[in-house]
Amino acid sequence: MERIKKNKKDFLTLKDYSKEEIVYLIELAKKIKNNEEKYSKILKNKNIALLFDKPSTRTRISFEVGINQLGGNCLVLDSKSLQMGRGETYADTAKIFDVYLDGVIVRTFKQENIETIASNCNIAVINALTDLYHPCQILSDLFTLFEMNLLFKKDFKFTYVGDSNNILNSLLIGFTKLGINITVGCHEKYCPDENIISYIKSESKSSGNEVNILNDPMLAVKDADVIYTDVWVSMGNEESTQKIYDLKPYQINRNLASAAKKNAKIMHCLPAHRELEITSEILDSPDSIVWIQAKNRLYAQKALLTYLYSD
Ligand code: CP
Ligand code: NVA
Repeated sequence: MERIKKNKKDFLTLKDYSKEEIVYLIELAKKIKNNEEKYSKILKNKNIALLFDKPSTRTRISFEVGINQLGGNCLVLDSKSLQMGRGETYADTAKIFDVYLDGVIVRTFKQENIETIASNCNIAVINALTDLYHPCQILSDLFTLFEMNLLFKKDFKFTYVGDSNNILNSLLIGFTKLGINITVGCHEKYCPDENIISYIKSESKSSGNEVNILNDPMLAVKDADVIYTDVWVSMGNEESTQKIYDLKPYQINRNLASAAKKNAKIMHCLPAHRELEITSEILDSPDSIVWIQAKNRLYAQKALLTYLYSD
């Protein structure tokens, strides 16, 4: 199928966005958070659909509320109840979206599914999570760090510990795009994918950041300003007792957190599996900023929509 020729802008991965665009978006998120009323008509007469093949609480609600707050109309679709559930292809469905909608926000399994949708329509397509990436989450997390005056702080140490998944992939891309160092503590069996590593290596040459991938979680977390983790079993992955056993040393608990700076911030995209990747003691501690992260999804996504739909 020939790719439709178009000038439209999608948000499929942070790879497609420049440092300037990412900085613009996080600054815009702050402006929107401070003056929501000013942006209440950006999506007037726009119909934007959410198509979710996987469960969601935060992404779905924040997009639905955000689209409404920007003056647009939001349709929530479920692929099982569309003809997709009976085998209509992503490509054909995308051509139908193109006829009725101004945009579609998709959560699905393969990144290729969302790329197929994007290449078969002229409307904006936004990635609301795939097995490979979660750019909306990371845009929002960058905004949270920016808002707390941490993102561009000198000698800022940000450490991700745990499973290598869509969150880590997008964190690696986002931090590298911004030229900010990132440290990863991961088990040798669950390290970032080769394709991501080679992308990061080539981007880092121009962006100038350091990406440190360590197997020792204590060393990875040592003197960190922020520790971030995510679930050990992502949606669509099979639960493995061996993996959970292997990842035990990467749990954020009192002992691991004590290696970081005093009062280091704790981040998690949520939902959390309490007592697996993080203990309740840490998740509910005053240093945890997970609820701020969740709230900021709304403003980061409103910034993204404002950017995509402003003339
Ligand atoms: N963090 C996040 O994307 O949460 P949901 O799966 O609830 O949307
Ligand atoms: N890595 C997790 C993120 C959930 C927001 C998953 O894909 O299930």
